[in-house]
Amino acid sequence: MTQEYTILRLGHQGDGIAEGPVYAPRTLPGERVTGALDGSALTDIKVLTPSDDRVKPPCRHYKSCGGCQLQHASDAFVADWKVEVVRTALAAQRLQAEMRPILTSPPQSRRRASIAVRRTKKGALAGFHGRASDVITEIPDCQLLDPALTAAIPVAKALAELGGSRKGVLSVTLTLSEAGLDVSVQGGKPLDGPLELALAQATEQHGLARLAWDGEVIAMRNPPAQRFGPAAVVPPPGAFLQATKDGEQALTKAVLEIVGPAKRVVDLFAGCGTFSLPLAQRAEVHAVEGAADMTRALDQGWRKSTGLKQVTTEARDLFRRPLMPDELRRFDAVVLDPPRAGAEAQVAELAQARRPVIAYVSCNPVTFARDAKNLVQAGYALEWVQVVDQFRWSSHSELVGSFKLAENP
Ligand SMILES: C[S@@+](CC[C@H](N)C(=O)[O-])C[C@H]1O[C@@H](n2cnc3c(N)ncnc32)[C@H](O)[C@@H]1O
Repeated sequence: MTQEYTILRLGHQGDGIAEGPVYAPRTLPGERVTGALDGSALTDIKVLTPSDDRVKPPCRHYKSCGGCQLQHASDAFVADWKVEVVRTALAAQRLQAEMRPILTSPPQSRRRASIAVRRTKKGALAGFHGRASDVITEIPDCQLLDPALTAAIPVAKALAELGGSRKGVLSVTLTLSEAGLDVSVQGGKPLDGPLELALAQATEQHGLARLAWDGEVIAMRNPPAQRFGPAAVVPPPGAFLQATKDGEQALTKAVLEIVGPAKRVVDLFAGCGTFSLPLAQRAEVHAVEGAADMTRALDQGWRKSTGLKQVTTEARDLFRRPLMPDELRRFDAVVLDPPRAGAEAQVAELAQARRPVIAYVSCNPVTFARDAKNLVQAGYALEWVQVVDQFRWSSHSELVGSFKLAENP
């Protein structure tokens, strides 16, 4: 039965929420809508009174593709909403901070994306999954991806034709690198001699820098380096990388500003050195990261570069074995950039160690606010927060928080 609803606000996934709660995807606060209730979700939605913030989606695939959630809203609305999500998460912990104007990556700037690819009778289908569905939407005019990534989608299809099963969906991660396309495939057929040969030939034919199949490097024509400051790092296949160069630069600039003139910096959850290597232009850095192949890549990148100060690396599980106060005391600044779960155990030790400044980079405002509260209770001031939107038109955002130890807590 169709009913009328008023959208009150957006939830964390970017869905409109009406009283109930009833979830209405792709609606905006203030809109009157009709739809049929399926559990707590509204389907067959018709907007009766559109919001002034409603715009024509810039992408022609938006209706069927699940890659973006907020193309029906103006840029100004999305920017305000993303900042508000962070402010609200902080307020829930009774915290507030200066919110710097959000920095949003331009359209078509994603340098890395995982594409879903399925082999079909006639060839292969490649794109993003539809909203909460298994259907793959093809995205030849994607507004999110760098055009060089969109141009590489036929390569993903060709790989699925070689080594995808008709039942499973391959996840093909395409990353732009200085040496060309870095491709990492998950979920393919098990490797055997003929498949390996065919994949090596495909690497040549398509001029790929590197091809990895379920974690195993099949061929590397050129090391697919990423530049972090003056250093060139060759990350392990499929390793974490900030989603846009623009976003990475904004995050790095904020981190460098917070760290300031510190001479000894510890970079926790350091990945392949996104922050460690630019920091090493002015400070000695100890980079700690859970994945040993990433710390090795970082170390090699540092060794091959010139003009950087000492960088040491340590592979360590920071959830189970956080750095302890006596280990932290030799540093005068801390950078941390944990996964979505945040860094509860590590922050408990940081609260004890009381280093002068902490730059906290986060992709989850809720865990950030939880950890921020513990730092504030230990005597830190959360001076400002910079929201960086490198996941344009999605409900995600990234942020950097600047913590300074108060003189007299
Ligand atoms: C959001 S990424 C940030 C990486 C890096 N700072 C960058 O900007 O490229 C989080 C990093 O934490 C690492 N990680 C995840 N769980 C970890 C753990 N328990 N201990 C240490 N590192 C972990 C991941 O491998 C990943 O490199």
